[in-house]
Amino acid sequence: MIEFDAVSKVYPDGTTAVSEVTLTVPSHKTVVLLGSSGSGKTTLLRMVNRMVEPTSGRVLIDGADIRDRNAVHLRRSIGYVMQSGGLLPHRTVTDNVATVPVLNGTSRRSARKEAAGLLERVGLDPALGKRYPHQLSGGQQQRVGVARALAGDPNILLMDEPFGAVDPVVRRDLQDELLRLQSQLGKTIVFVTHDVDEAFLLADTVALLKPGGVLAQVGTPTEIVEHPADDFVAEFIDAGRPRSVLR
Ligand SMILES: Nc1ncnc2c1ncn2[C@@H]1O[C@H](COP(=O)(O)OP(=O)(O)O)[C@@H](O)[C@H]1O
Ligand SMILES: [Mg+2]
Repeated sequence: MIEFDAVSKVYPDGTTAVSEVTLTVPSHKTVVLLGSSGSGKTTLLRMVNRMVEPTSGRVLIDGADIRDRNAVHLRRSIGYVMQSGGLLPHRTVTDNVATVPVLNGTSRRSARKEAAGLLERVGLDPALGKRYPHQLSGGQQQRVGVARALAGDPNILLMDEPFGAVDPVVRRDLQDELLRLQSQLGKTIVFVTHDVDEAFLLADTVALLKPGGVLAQVGTPTEIVEHPADDFVAEFIDAGRPRSVLR
């Protein structure tokens, strides 16, 4: 379980990115941080692995304040998928997936073996492990990003607009794959998106953020659709409706 306890972030230039957010991510569930660009989603997400330190408030994992953990060890114990993929261009796919387990002390040989299994798990031919990232399609690179985040079997996965850069058909494939994976693995997932349809498809709970990093509403997709907290919420989810109808 991850708890955000009244966290705020004011960047040194005075920008308030996150304002007093209190939110619980239950174990084995997917919470989607939904909001338009600049609403503080990435900042909030990165507080979980201490890539961002809150200006005030606390983040707890399983009841313990993460400030008491070694930041590097904490970071390596949490899977993180970046929007851009974030793969190391000069390393093979296998070595990209194996990097963190090796840093954590797993032998190179068993980390590579695990990597082959993970590639299969995310729907890739393990033979692709020999390639370099630029030799893969965008969708394949995103799958490798997911495989890498799963390496070492972390309890927590942070996913920052992981499917934002691929075309809609591939995106739909990746979303289905994530739902399938999650039903098998039961990770604790924080997933960031600005896409209402994606949020409603993947989330157990949606946390909708307003500009300034203020929580507008937290609820299941059904709760939010049936009882939007205010006009902001109603308008935000309405903007996503036409696409839902077309699908
Ligand atoms: N390192 C930074 N320094 C100053 N301002 C930042 C920094 N990172 C993000 N911001 C600002 O904080 C706000 C929230 O950004 P971000 O968390 O990236 O939002 P989102 O992921 O929802 O697009 C934005 O106004 C952004 O410009
Ligand atoms: Mg972002």
